[in-house]
Amino acid sequence: MTRTPNPESGDAATDKTPSGTATGKSPIEPMPVNLTVNGLARTITVEPRMTLLDALREKLALTGTKKACDRGECGACTVHIDGRRVLSCMTMAAMLEGKKITTIEGLEKNGMLHPLQLAFIEHDGFQCGFCTSGQIMSGVAMIEEAKAGWPSAATADLRRDFTLADLSRAEIRERMSGNLCRCACYPNIVDAVVEAVARS
Ligand code: FES
Ligand code: FES
Repeated sequence: MTRTPNPESGDAATDKTPSGTATGKSPIEPMPVNLTVNGLARTITVEPRMTLLDALREKLALTGTKKACDRGECGACTVHIDGRRVLSCMTMAAMLEGKKITTIEGLEKNGMLHPLQLAFIEHDGFQCGFCTSGQIMSGVAMIEEAKAGWPSAATADLRRDFTLADLSRAEIRERMSGNLCRCACYPNIVDAVVEAVARS
């Protein structure tokens, strides 16, 4: 005979569901998160399951960051957290208390586009543009990584310090390999990065 659990009794058999449901509380209570986004202090209320990508687009109307694969494969959703490039579709917003987020909307300074944005325009680094914000956010961070001396899988000699002068086209292709472009603008994207490096 099937036994009917009594929720009032504290019977362990009653709580087969995720934590909290037996008490009538949602297991996914929204929570406030304080962030700095593109230099502005923002407080958003998110469910623990909400990604940074969805929070940016749906809570802050920053739709420059694109959702494409939504599973960490294409790079279209790339943003910076404390200066490091990350996939916002793979990052939980609730984990980012106190962090500094930069999106494509935050690259412009005093009405001037970032040098890499200008280089993308000059070198036709896009067609449909859907991957472009992710490409540019990745490229900006990648140049900083190279300036800081980080090697990549394409770096031939790991015994000496990497410098910006070592950032060859092969290095750029490797370091940008997490950003896919369905329009196949890759040669022009590399040209744009080369140009931005030359100007930096
Ligand atoms: S949308 Fe995040 S990696 Fe594709
Ligand atoms: S410009 Fe269309 S996907 Fe890259």
